[in-house]
Amino acid sequence: MREVAIVGVGMTRFGELWESPLRNMFTEAALTAIDDAGVDHIDSMYVGAMSSGLFVHQEHIASLLADYLGVAGIPSTRVESACASGGLAVRQAVIEVGAGVSDIVLAGGVEKMTDGVDAIDALATAADQEYEAFHGITFPGLYAFIANAHMHRYGTTREQLADVAVKNHDHGSLNPKAQFPFKITREAVMNSTMVAWPLRLLDCSPVTDGAAAVIVTSMDVAEKLGRPIVKVLASGHATDGLALHSRTDPTTIPAVGRAAEIAFKQAGLTPEKIELAEVHDCFTIAELVVTEELGFVERGRSGEAVSSGETRLGGRIPVNTSGGLKAKGHPVGASGVAQIIEVVEQLRGSAGDRQVEGARIGLTQNMGGSGASCVVHILEGVS
Ligand code: COA
Repeated sequence: MREVAIVGVGMTRFGELWESPLRNMFTEAALTAIDDAGVDHIDSMYVGAMSSGLFVHQEHIASLLADYLGVAGIPSTRVESACASGGLAVRQAVIEVGAGVSDIVLAGGVEKMTDGVDAIDALATAADQEYEAFHGITFPGLYAFIANAHMHRYGTTREQLADVAVKNHDHGSLNPKAQFPFKITREAVMNSTMVAWPLRLLDCSPVTDGAAAVIVTSMDVAEKLGRPIVKVLASGHATDGLALHSRTDPTTIPAVGRAAEIAFKQAGLTPEKIELAEVHDCFTIAELVVTEELGFVERGRSGEAVSSGETRLGGRIPVNTSGGLKAKGHPVGASGVAQIIEVVEQLRGSAGDRQVEGARIGLTQNMGGSGASCVVHILEGVS
């Protein structure tokens, strides 16, 4: 594999973007990334989208978006892996450039979720239809099972779950692109509307519109562009069964552990070397389990770690400095790409008030459903 870099990033604001159709959102993010990279063309593109058919009744979007971007004719591929679609789109671009097939590839993600469809019903199609969704369980319900198991097994508390949301809203309050750029209190989380015990409204990521894109190039091309270079040290990908009941231990998300193991091996690094991470906090419990799977904290200790400040800005390993899915928003197909953008900004030293001083190595973890797919990237700032 050739060495691969990310040289350009762009994203829309995340939120309820009533005035922006899906194609406009994607084009805005893509043009910003192209401009940021300073490239005059792209060889091909990937689009991560979970369910444009259900959300806006539009399929065949890889060609549609290439055309709308003004590059019709180049290869354009849609990538779907539920909420991991964006991370997987970036991985496909990394593989294509790494393999020497293309030199400059755009990887983007987009989702338009607030246009009036039943978003919760659409999202439930990423669960096992016959064993889960058909019986009425939604993603808040599935993650509530995981939370109950974690609380029972390790003594994780309701307050510790709340502290994940408080931390991510603190970080999100520093992010002008966030859907909810404001702080919340532990009490507000604990008193918010019950969704599925123990998860309340403020434990959940919201329903969001948005798009994000990055430009992936070979190291040779990157060096000629004269822009800040962030090197892709590793890209790990793993899958698991869709149905939560098939998991032997519901306090774990094995695909995360597997994708991380592959990525750490590729990068020749251990979890202690990671200086910041963007992880898939679709629900507060998800961030806790994921930080354990990634090896940032011991199993069962993640609740304690968040409440003691280990995972907040200024802590031992800052997690979700962007505000995460919780505060920044979760336009499902775009989320994995937006995670990469936050880490790129951090490694370039351009994250503003959210900057982790001197950060050189960061990790992203993006997953689909209750963990049936997972993509982990490790990035290094080199200039
Ligand atoms: N965090 C903070 N505020 C939220 C929120 C969230 N997750 N979701 C909604 N709100 C706010 C809204 O902005 C609205 O505020 P307003 O009255 O000031 O405008 C209010 O809460 C009610 O919003 P509404 O859209 O009526 O909420 P809802 O009850 O329809 O949906 C959830 C709330 C939590 C059920 C929904 O956001 C959800 O299902 N989230 C999870 C999405 C998901 O599963 N993603 C995939 C993960 S794998």
